[in-house]
Amino acid sequence: MAERPYIVGNWKMHGTRAMLSEARAMDRAAQRHMKVEVAIAPPYTLIHPIHREAGQIGVGAQNCHFADGGAHTGDISAAMVADAGAKFVILGHSERRADHGESDAVVKAKVEAALEAGLRVILCCGESEKTRDAGRAVQHVKKQIKASLPDLEEAGEKLTIAYEPIWAIGTGKTATVDDIAEMHTEIRALMVDLFGEEQGSVIRILYGGSVKPENASEILTAPEVGGALVGGASLTADSFMSIALAADSPEL
Ligand code: 13P
Repeated sequence: MAERPYIVGNWKMHGTRAMLSEARAMDRAAQRHMKVEVAIAPPYTLIHPIHREAGQIGVGAQNCHFADGGAHTGDISAAMVADAGAKFVILGHSERRADHGESDAVVKAKVEAALEAGLRVILCCGESEKTRDAGRAVQHVKKQIKASLPDLEEAGEKLTIAYEPIWAIGTGKTATVDDIAEMHTEIRALMVDLFGEEQGSVIRILYGGSVKPENASEILTAPEVGGALVGGASLTADSFMSIALAADSPEL
């Protein structure tokens, strides 16, 4: 991994204030791994309390609306999560695409709104098992990314891509290192195509889907893997920071 590895925890719909102690422990441990950028995306309700206390870890949101405000009961704008202390937002996660019918066009509008609000974006993409079995995984993911990205003058630091094969999320199945390398290399080529060599080559591409302390080293050493987006294993400081430790290895 050429760039500073980025290890992000997606807490999904987990976490009450009782979890603040885990976030504190993550923050303390992150101070021992300064070569790794560690961040968590807790539920909205914990963004501000974690932001207030965190010295080292970044805090982000798992979603935001594309509108600035208005009659959208139960929704939250990019400016609101930024105001609560979020520095980034995860957009286009397959669970949101499935549970809330988010299309590529909706995700694209959200990416625009988030960047406008000064947030960094982690854009998720990934294929279903059916699409992979049909041999269309690469084609699907590239199409999804292109359709979910607005025209950006510059992307650089503001954009991260997370490749999360849907069949690997929460299932204990991970893609093989060869499959990860193939997909990440294709995504890298697309980034260079879209943003030019200088910017396209530094955009970080994370892998997500059943990343655990036991498989983190192998995944993180695959070509073009710039870090991990971690679900279940990000809920305790012990397991999450073991993954951060794997990213801090001198071989990477
Ligand atoms: P798991 O690590 O639980 O498979 O979740 C991955 C994910 O969806 C992160 O966004």
